[in-house]
Amino acid sequence: MESVKRIALSKEGNQYYIRNITQDYHTKEGYIRKEDLKKKAAIAKTNTGSELFIFEPGFIDSYRKIKRLPQIIPLKDIGAIIAVTGISPKSKVVDAGSGSGALALFLAHLVKEVTTYEIRDDFIAVVRENIAALGIKNIKVKKKDVTQGIDEKNVDLVVLDMPNPWDALPAVQKSLKVGGFLVSYSPTIVQAADVVHALKDHKSLLHIKTTETLEREWEIDERRIRPHSQMLAHSGFLTFIRKVSE
Ligand SMILES: C[S@@+](CC[C@H](N)C(=O)[O-])C[C@H]1O[C@@H](n2cnc3c(N)ncnc32)[C@H](O)[C@@H]1O
Repeated sequence: MESVKRIALSKEGNQYYIRNITQDYHTKEGYIRKEDLKKKAAIAKTNTGSELFIFEPGFIDSYRKIKRLPQIIPLKDIGAIIAVTGISPKSKVVDAGSGSGALALFLAHLVKEVTTYEIRDDFIAVVRENIAALGIKNIKVKKKDVTQGIDEKNVDLVVLDMPNPWDALPAVQKSLKVGGFLVSYSPTIVQAADVVHALKDHKSLLHIKTTETLEREWEIDERRIRPHSQMLAHSGFLTFIRKVSE
């Protein structure tokens, strides 16, 4: 798939992802002329007189357009993972399963290297497609069941987003450095509790906290200032675990 070349934003809040800048682009506010699309930044007037702001996409714009197969981890939860674990450009991260590669791609944008484990060939193909679309170079994709072992050692962060994370605890224990984090992402609280209960057999892994992140967006329009009537009410529970000894 051709990459996104331009973003167009309207004052009404519409956002357009434009891949082909060699022809006029049709929007709800009329069409943008190709001459305006060729400029790297422009305030363009459509044929119906609406103003649109045109600019080159940043990481987040291209990221929002990646191909998605299974459920991806939403940005609000990725934000919590980054903030609580404090990963940095020096960090080594492992992620399983890859799914569409959404989390792996976002983390690779920030850290030194990400290795992502996946068991399904069809998902691996999508992850590779998404890596190419974003031009990310520091992700390794491995076709391997993560419960059978993690090859990377001295890892700063392991994130598990898979149905049976407790089965991966022995592998995670060997892979993490002391002080490193495991974040287990589960759609149900029963799975989250099962991970925490399984820690009794892994004394070096300490439960820090289990959280849910709720994000409520607000409308601010003159005096009409109120929360949106709809929100993403539930995505998943984040269980933060830390390796505290060898
Ligand atoms: C919900 S998806 C992960 C989505 C991903 N975090 C993202 O943000 O795009 C769960 C994935 O885990 C994979 N999976 C399940 N068990 C696994 C295992 N034991 N080892 C590696 N991958 C596994 C599944 O095939 C599926 O693609």
